Amino acid sequence: MSTLVGVGVGPGDPDLVTVKAANLLAKADVVFVPVADSGDTGRAEQTVLFYAEAWRVERVVFALHDREHTARREQAWDAAAAHVARWFAAHPGGTAAFATIGDPCVYSTFTYLAGTVRDLVGELEVRLVPGITAMQDLAARSGTPLVEGRETLSLFPMTAGADRFREALRRGDAVVAYKFGRMLPETLAVLRETDRLDGAVYGAGLGLVDEDIRPAAELDPDETGPYLSTLIVPPRRDGRGHGLR
Ligand SMILES: C[S@@+](CC[C@H](N)C(=O)[O-])C[C@H]1O[C@@H](n2cnc3c(N)ncnc32)[C@H](O)[C@@H]1O
Repeated sequence: MSTLVGVGVGPGDPDLVTVKAANLLAKADVVFVPVADSGDTGRAEQTVLFYAEAWRVERVVFALHDREHTARREQAWDAAAAHVARWFAAHPGGTAAFATIGDPCVYSTFTYLAGTVRDLVGELEVRLVPGITAMQDLAARSGTPLVEGRETLSLFPMTAGADRFREALRRGDAVVAYKFGRMLPETLAVLRETDRLDGAVYGAGLGLVDEDIRPAAELDPDETGPYLSTLIVPPRRDGRGHGLR
């Protein structure tokens, strides 16, 4: 049976690819990578090229920079699925990997693709190989435990609006924000308003050449950040074992 595997390749540092993912990237008949229509090398593609020869890597164009659920996005998902389905039609019984940054189950293009490819191909096994997420990398690199004891963790795409982000910050949860680059000033304003700026840590371009990791309190309150920016707001902690009390 033909097999499509969604594989997480981590946030950027090729050393953060799991052994399972590296083995798959080395053996798959083809590795699809999502790219924008600009023609630039994709973020997942940069990492994939450490493990797969360029001739096995095939680009699939996605409307990666559209923020809304636009008709252009729908068309891009359909076209991407048709591209992958054509490959299976030409290689029955083949194994294709589809690489995404971080983990394929966390805000990934793979989940949109797999269902449509299955509809087009019919007999298809779909599998997933997990990857290290940007929040895990930032937590480790900045020495910020995400959750301890009974603490809870909320993950927010800032594109969903600031209100639920504000609520979670007020509840005192550990909070991680994704997809806030252009909304960085607004995001920092909510941290100040809820008195959660101290202890918050910011990481942009993790594992890439322009990586920037620093306390959120040191950021310029008026400057926007790049798309690849992550923020961890740890719960207020008062000594060892605080999360168990
Ligand atoms: C579409 S989501 C993909 C998330 C990814 N699947 C994961 O598991 O981390 C894109 C968001 O992930 C975060 N992100 C992914 N890679 C990153 C990196 N190298 N540095 C900083 N943030 C990153 C950013 O918040 C970005 O806006």
